[in-house]
Amino acid sequence: MDPERKTPHRVNITDLLLPLDDTSGIPLYRQVYEGLRDAIIEGRLPAGARIPSTRRLAEYLAVSRTTVLVAFEQLAAEGFLVGAVGSGSRVSDQLPPAPPLPEADPRAATIPVTVEISRRGRSLLELPRPSRQLSPGSKAFRTGQPPVDGFPLEVWRRLASRRHRTLTSADLYHGSAQGLRKLREAIVTVAVARGIRCEPEQVLVLASAQEAMELVCRMLLDPGDEAWLEDPAWSGARAALVAAGAHIVPVPVDGAGLGVEVGILTAPQARLAYVTPSHQYPMGVTMSRDRRTMLLEWAQEHGAWILEDDYDSEFRYADRPLPALQSLDRTGRVVYVGTFNKTLFPALRLAYLLLPEKLIDAFREARGIGGQHPPAVDQGILSEFIAEGHYARHLKHARALGRQRRDTLLSTAARRLKGVEVTHTDTGLHTVGWLPEETDDRSVSLAALRHGVEAAPLSAHYMAACPRPGLVLGYGALTTRQITDGVERLSAALDEVISPARAGRRR
Ligand SMILES: Cc1ncc(COP(=O)(O)O)c(C=O)c1O
Repeated sequence: MDPERKTPHRVNITDLLLPLDDTSGIPLYRQVYEGLRDAIIEGRLPAGARIPSTRRLAEYLAVSRTTVLVAFEQLAAEGFLVGAVGSGSRVSDQLPPAPPLPEADPRAATIPVTVEISRRGRSLLELPRPSRQLSPGSKAFRTGQPPVDGFPLEVWRRLASRRHRTLTSADLYHGSAQGLRKLREAIVTVAVARGIRCEPEQVLVLASAQEAMELVCRMLLDPGDEAWLEDPAWSGARAALVAAGAHIVPVPVDGAGLGVEVGILTAPQARLAYVTPSHQYPMGVTMSRDRRTMLLEWAQEHGAWILEDDYDSEFRYADRPLPALQSLDRTGRVVYVGTFNKTLFPALRLAYLLLPEKLIDAFREARGIGGQHPPAVDQGILSEFIAEGHYARHLKHARALGRQRRDTLLSTAARRLKGVEVTHTDTGLHTVGWLPEETDDRSVSLAALRHGVEAAPLSAHYMAACPRPGLVLGYGALTTRQITDGVERLSAALDEVISPARAGRRR
């Protein structure tokens, strides 16, 4: 036999572990297609690998053979598979050109962009996505999810039906582009808890913190302007800067928050700094008073803007939170973002900006031109929810749930996740689980996905090299059972990645 001719790599069907979810609303053929396509792009299914037949795969996944056939046909049409669809499919040796992967993130750019997308659109699609929701709902250890199961749905239903019953035709016209006056007044009262004193005129209501940040970056930055971004950072902030064509300057985060000194040394003329001072995402640290003062002084001196993302500081479990950075701003350099999608429920899609006075007119006009306000009926319901005291009551309850879930995660992880050090956090809805040095957190994260849990790799949040591997673990929406079950699954995933790596090093 020709020694050069290799036998094709055979894929073990049980290694495919496609996480199908028939409650997700995503067609099953699409889930099979995406699962196989991701495995090919990520190299888990190498070039030339022989794929199990559609019949065997359908049996194994407990789906119809047509489902698998449609997925295979799509993969063949896109050039991922070659050979007869049915029983002779192999992974192509010549994969369709994938967009370049920034920092070789395995979850980045999982969409082969085959349609005509602008360069700016592509740069967005090509950004690393630390986590990707494969199904809706709560799932261990998905981030950014509040204790939705503790939400007073009955109260919301009552306020919503009252709002709908009392609607008149006058309510059917455009409202204020700034947002419903009653809601802006209610937001002023909410901001007081963050040490902020503001007027309803300063408030702009939007659908999400993400939308707010995109508007801020579009309005305050020109393409090519330098902007500081916390490193590591929330991927959405990076996306907002990329969408505005900004030149991103990653500024390292340490135990005192954003390294303002480094930012000043690296890019003193930057136009904007993005920060999460109350609870850095994803590291969880609080920005020190000294750094806050230094940042404000720099912004004032250079006429730069500070974009303060105060996304989850309401979830504070120990001492009183430090007031928002905005409350220290005497010269109107801070644009503050708050979101109800985190304090109440993600499907709400209501958030807000608090603007320095000099930006109010321009931003109101911009909203009028570019999208108006979020649904007025929902704004009305939320304003009553706040005004009648339900918001404050719910926050108290949600905070208690958050604290209890954090404790469960910490104690279960301490018992079951050997070698993983989970940070004790006093704020928010997520924490970091530090992995043993030299562990590849992306491999652990992928193994976790195969075991049915989401654990975003810390390294995927960095623009510079990640100094220490870790996993970002959300716990806000998880019941005790979900946490304990999730920890077991994560432990199995860790065994799969860490033990063989250790054994390899010993050899
Ligand atoms: C730091 C940070 N800011 C903002 C958001 C998004 O908030 P919204 O859903 O209102 O866009 C998230 C979401 O997880 C986040 O982690």
